[in-house]
Amino acid sequence: MNKATDMGLEVLVNTENPEQTLKDMQPFIDLMMNYECALMEIETKLKILNTEFTLRHNRNPFESIKCRVKQPISIIRKLQKKGLDITIENIENNLTDIAGVRVICSFPEDIYTLSDLLSKQDDIKVVTVKDYIRNPKKNGYRSLHLIVSVPIYLSDETKQMNVEVQFRTIAMDFWASLDHKLKYKKDNLKHPEIIEQELKKCADTISALDYKMQEIRNMLED
Ligand code: GTP
Ligand code: MG
Repeated sequence: MNKATDMGLEVLVNTENPEQTLKDMQPFIDLMMNYECALMEIETKLKILNTEFTLRHNRNPFESIKCRVKQPISIIRKLQKKGLDITIENIENNLTDIAGVRVICSFPEDIYTLSDLLSKQDDIKVVTVKDYIRNPKKNGYRSLHLIVSVPIYLSDETKQMNVEVQFRTIAMDFWASLDHKLKYKKDNLKHPEIIEQELKKCADTISALDYKMQEIRNMLED
């Protein structure tokens, strides 16, 4: 028996019978495929809205969109952190961020326009909304997070899948990616408070800039 780490999964590969290993993994592979499909559905819905907006109003509500399925190793770590067994059912019932979409908008207003248009579509169910723009995190983090449930139409069934959609402006994304990069260094500091204060100040400055730019846009449109 060998340990297979190529997928980041701690599965035992039976070298005499690798077919069996593949068979054992099939439900996991199927589930990840379902999440990929859910991502495609959400991405298409958002791209359609963007295209329509560009035609009608001559502006695009989002700048870019990125989709990702959580890595197997991160799925395992998250289940362990929650004290749950590593099973397909636990993944589906307890983790809502296996499929993730990040939508980067130019202006804060566009975030709410887009998320409202997506939320009210017939086949979308909004599971949770976390508005870290109106209620920023203590560290200054801003973004709008939705968990939505979307149907995927397979050959023999229709499945509802959860997708986490994060909306943020270019400026919020700039801050969040630097915050993420600095996290590891910050964690090793004896007194991270000063750095945290500085980062919070940056977040507030960036936010003020976002609303200033939006004001300019609105002035130009009037
Ligand atoms: P996770 O267990 O991290 O998924 O958190 P959660 O289930 O409480 O959800 P929440 O909506 O608060 O955060 C989900 C995701 O938002 C994270 O995985 C990050 O991608 C992002 N996020 C949340 N807080 C921060 C932050 O302070 N800094 C940065 N850079 N990203 C954040
Ligand atoms: Mg997460």
